[in-house]
Amino acid sequence: MTRLTVFGAGGRAGRAITAEALRRGLHVTAVVRDPRKHAEVAHRDVTLAAGDVTDPASVESAARGADAVVHAVSPFTGPEQGFADLDPRFFVRSSDALRVGMAAAGVERLLVIGLFANLRTADGVLVMDDPALFPPEIRPFARAHTDGLDRLRETAGPDWLVLTPPARLTPDAPRTGRYRLLDESLPLTDGELSYADLAIAVVDEAQAPTRHRTRVAVVGGEPARRAEG
Ligand SMILES: NC(=O)c1ccc[n+]([C@@H]2O[C@H](COP(=O)([O-])OP(=O)(O)OC[C@H]3O[C@@H](n4cnc5c(N)ncnc54)[C@H](OP(=O)(O)O)[C@@H]3O)[C@@H](O)[C@H]2O)c1
Repeated sequence: MTRLTVFGAGGRAGRAITAEALRRGLHVTAVVRDPRKHAEVAHRDVTLAAGDVTDPASVESAARGADAVVHAVSPFTGPEQGFADLDPRFFVRSSDALRVGMAAAGVERLLVIGLFANLRTADGVLVMDDPALFPPEIRPFARAHTDGLDRLRETAGPDWLVLTPPARLTPDAPRTGRYRLLDESLPLTDGELSYADLAIAVVDEAQAPTRHRTRVAVVGGEPARRAEG
């Protein structure tokens, strides 16, 4: 595998995934909404492209020639933003656009960053349904994320994998090179993961897939399966 297309390449997860791919010598098509705002993504192995993950034509164009596509897009960056503008169908629309656009471009592998809110506690309760674990006011975003995951499950499409971080996904935490993939039927694991270690898991699963058409939790801790560098 040599080429990765990353939607949301200017965001926290997207930047970490792009950096991890470049570190391995891959070429990245870095997709942002406005390339003029993302000069920091420039690199000799990066093609900076304008695109929208909810638009099938945009996905087709950005994915053409790639070996895998990453969806690291979020329409909601923090609570201060509020939900007045949140499209509750955002993640359903992105699942649909990725399915259609990737098929048109002939790309099979799709890696999606999930949200811990739809993991389950040891009691089998969805995290988003427990106000002690998840602020009720952020539930609309969690619901939208979950609908996008359900859409992937319900429709025939690419060889997808949703990688869901724990509650504490920390931008400034170091790259340890260690992570574990847990079956989603296991309860939510407390703990911390750096964006850099999440990125290792994403690029590993792009280069040498081990899980297909399912969702896993990614947690830190054990020796990495195949971290390089
Ligand atoms: N603990 C957890 O479970 C946890 C924690 C954090 C994040 N997450 C999930 O991880 C994923 C990535 O989050 P993040 O922290 O990296 O978010 P982020 O830093 O807010 O970045 C999100 C990016 O999405 C881009 N974007 C928004 N709408 C778009 C569209 N229609 N088409 C293309 N790009 C678009 C924005 O691009 P522009 O630069 O073009 O504006 C932005 O750079 C999300 O699904 C988020 O929910 C999970």
